[in-house]
Amino acid sequence: MHHHNLSPLLVLLLISISWKICCAKQEDFAHCMSIHSSSRYLEAFKHLHTPSSPSYSILLQSFQQNPRWLNSSSSKPAFVVTPYTESDIQAAVVCSKKHDLQIRVKSGGHDYEGLSFLCPFPFIIIDLTNLRSISIDLEDETAWVQSGATLGELYYTIAKNNKLLGFPAGICPTVGVGGHFSGGGFGTMVRKHGLAADNIMDAYLIDVNGRILDRETMGEDLFWAIRGGGGASFGIVIAWKIKLVRVPPVVTVFTVHKNLNQEGIQLVNIWQNVSSKLPQDLFIRLVFQNSNRPDNGDQETVEVLFNALFLGSVKELMPIMDKSFPELGVDSKDCNEMSWIESTLYIHGFKSGDPLEVLLDRSYQDKSYFKAKSDFVQEPIFLDTVWQVVRERISEEAIGILVLDPFGGRMDEISESELPFPHRKGNLYNIQYLVKWSVDGEVESERHLSWIRWLHDYMEPYVSRSPRSAYLNYRDLDIGTNDPESVNYSQGEIWGRKYFKGNLEMLAQVKSRIDPGNFFRSEQSIIPPAQMRFQI
Ligand code: FDA
Repeated sequence: MHHHNLSPLLVLLLISISWKICCAKQEDFAHCMSIHSSSRYLEAFKHLHTPSSPSYSILLQSFQQNPRWLNSSSSKPAFVVTPYTESDIQAAVVCSKKHDLQIRVKSGGHDYEGLSFLCPFPFIIIDLTNLRSISIDLEDETAWVQSGATLGELYYTIAKNNKLLGFPAGICPTVGVGGHFSGGGFGTMVRKHGLAADNIMDAYLIDVNGRILDRETMGEDLFWAIRGGGGASFGIVIAWKIKLVRVPPVVTVFTVHKNLNQEGIQLVNIWQNVSSKLPQDLFIRLVFQNSNRPDNGDQETVEVLFNALFLGSVKELMPIMDKSFPELGVDSKDCNEMSWIESTLYIHGFKSGDPLEVLLDRSYQDKSYFKAKSDFVQEPIFLDTVWQVVRERISEEAIGILVLDPFGGRMDEISESELPFPHRKGNLYNIQYLVKWSVDGEVESERHLSWIRWLHDYMEPYVSRSPRSAYLNYRDLDIGTNDPESVNYSQGEIWGRKYFKGNLEMLAQVKSRIDPGNFFRSEQSIIPPAQMRFQI
């Protein structure tokens, strides 16, 4: 009888060889980093987390916003780099190329599909959390903000310096500046000031050769591309210069809850007519959700929330509501006056009385399983049956949510090609579909995924078409699979057209100039024109 047991000696030999290969590779990379970074060797090593260092798994775990990916086919990163200086990043780019590793850049880590830290190929993660400084120039009303800062940190710092300044960006304070700005970014001031990307004046980017470029040295085409085209296709954006906007000393918020019954649907119809035409100071979004209402005997109801920010006082708001949307019946008692910074807490759903410092807490975000999708709506959907179906579907899911964000105002004044984000004039509102769940397992997962896919499919006749567009920052890797529009396009063109419409061609040209070898790539990155069949 043959035994295939290896002799202990052989085992020892194998272990020592594999240790040598693994650790020689680590040593090589660390050595490469130390040569190319101005940080000293030890310093560089401190910012380099290898699978054998204790910090490595702690970091990886902290990245997981969505446990759905824990068992994904993604490989683990060869290294995680947490740079403190630009030169650490330059070194990481040069050394990754040398060692045939791809790069995933993480700022806030909120990518809906985890593309900032998952990769099916050998790769490293550059985690920018340590590069998060914010410096405000009160005279110029501008700021430099590093990509690793969060929106909450940015809002907090602006308000600490001057209560009459703010910035128009997203609603969730833990979202990172790096991904958010480079994908567009919108929130409650979108109707007055447009996207976060519309208010960017300059940026520092590290390119594929490890060069640091600013607006002047990168050229207007690349500066255009990183304001909405997604940073990850073009390099690593380290910092942004932004134009702050003026906010009044007092703003007004309200949230009106309505049952999504016949009367509620009627209000949704009116909202579709008026929300994008209201004065720019008024933003009323809708949130459809399941709720237990005490005033309804704690019965499950599907409700629609009319959730608003007005850049002015209650006294100024009332005549506007009476004139434009009297059916909603908003009374001054429904309204609260506060500072703009307090409104960022309110709109996000913090409890009243929470200190402003909650904006600095990076860890409060609950980590649940979720999946999201998006649409843009160009014609009001007046068919009551559509909203009845939405109501039925939402009633079947514990946490199945639709958020409708109105556009119009400033968004109508900016042309489709001004920035890569093309969803401007003619788009009444954006829909975000979201489903969350907490139980692990394939079956559970499939059930919730098919819920959201079904609803998204169902909405097809009523939303934008040719292409049915989508928002890059609500990234969706389903796009392109089983897509009716896929007949004419390659994979990269399908999602590219949906996110960027006619701007895709320009993005591809910039890509071929700045990264012709396609080093910076991911499942949804811009590909050079040679690989496309343009039919836009
Ligand atoms: P993350 O670090 O995951 O990066 C996202 C993508 O950008 C990845 O591809 C990454 O590689 C790339 N990237 C990141 N930093 C980069 C850099 N410095 N240089 C180059 N590439 C870089 N959106 C919105 O418009 N309005 C809103 O109100 C909200 N609200 C919201 C709430 C919650 C809870 C979530 C999870 C998300 C949102 N979003 C949103 C979507 C959000 O704008 C989007 O997920 C952003 O891309 C997140 O940016 P992060 O830096 O956090 O992501």
